[in-house]
Amino acid sequence: MRKIGVVTSGGDAPGMNAAIRAIVRTAIPKKLEVLGFKRGFAGLLNNDVKPLGLRTVGGIIHLGGTILRTERCPKFATEEGIERASEVLKSNKVDALIVIGGDGSFKGALKLHEASGIQVIGIPATIDNDVVGTETTIGFDTAVNTAIQAIDRIRDTAMSHGRVFVVEVMGRKRGFLALEVGLTAGAEVILVPEIKRDIDSVCETLIRSRKKEKEYSIVVVAEGFGNSTSLVKEIAEKTGFEIRLTILGHIQRGGSPTARSRLIASLFSSYAVEKILESDESGVVGLQNGKVIFNSLEFVNKEYKPLNTELLQLAEDLAI
Ligand code: ADP
Ligand code: F6P
Repeated sequence: MRKIGVVTSGGDAPGMNAAIRAIVRTAIPKKLEVLGFKRGFAGLLNNDVKPLGLRTVGGIIHLGGTILRTERCPKFATEEGIERASEVLKSNKVDALIVIGGDGSFKGALKLHEASGIQVIGIPATIDNDVVGTETTIGFDTAVNTAIQAIDRIRDTAMSHGRVFVVEVMGRKRGFLALEVGLTAGAEVILVPEIKRDIDSVCETLIRSRKKEKEYSIVVVAEGFGNSTSLVKEIAEKTGFEIRLTILGHIQRGGSPTARSRLIASLFSSYAVEKILESDESGVVGLQNGKVIFNSLEFVNKEYKPLNTELLQLAEDLAI
């Protein structure tokens, strides 16, 4: 019997549990044994491991977070950390490891594969959607929906009081979440870390909106664009508009996964297990044009995922 290990790593994302469930329920009928390592890569360092059975993963498809827990584990990213993790995998007789996580976790995945020679497969799960080679990641759709539901509520107050609302969404380095949230919430302005925009031009857009008889405005800003408190202060000083800041924060990371996040989790995970059964190739699962595909770990670590600036343009065009 072959044995596979599973770990959830980095920031939790809604749909990680649906992924764990799909891995176990694809693997066990195919006579694969599944071991779950706890708290991300820390579980590999501490040999914190438990077998996962068909019933261990029952009743979790609708739950956010991860039953395996997760952690950011800087100790793993050292040479000794990778060595230790390789030893633990070998001592548990793990033939292949599935890493459910984001781009940081896949850097670790590549190093672990290189050091141990063990097959490592990545399943993209992050609300940031910043993994190259895939159109979407587990959790992204849920986070977008959570954020727009919050903004729909904020819109009531913005409209009633005639205010500008700046809503900060997550994304320290990348603006995929801000972009999709901004477009689907009907924001007047979207600010992302990848594109510099000076405050004067933001103020001009907001003033122009008022002149077009728009009585209130929504600005969606990614966490990584800059300091949102200073941004709001500056806009207030320059425009004289009444303005409020809402930081959505970690409410975007939790909650029951949407149908799409569960579907992506199920597709990615069953594919990952099938891949293990048919070859010893390492890589990262992804979605392109509605099809599940497989990219090399090297590609995912080297390439940069571009932001779709056409979407930004569309959002601006539709906010006239
Ligand atoms: P995410 O996977 O969500 O992007 P992080 O960036 O926090 O989350 O990465 C998760 C974990 O992956 C880190 O805590 C660390 O253990 C490992 N990791 C991140 N970057 C590297 C790296 N350059 N080399 C080895 N391991 C890394
Ligand atoms: O990577 C997911 C994410 O939620 C980012 O959007 C955010 O910048 C970061 O994690 C916050 O991390 P933490 O919850 O560990 O502070």
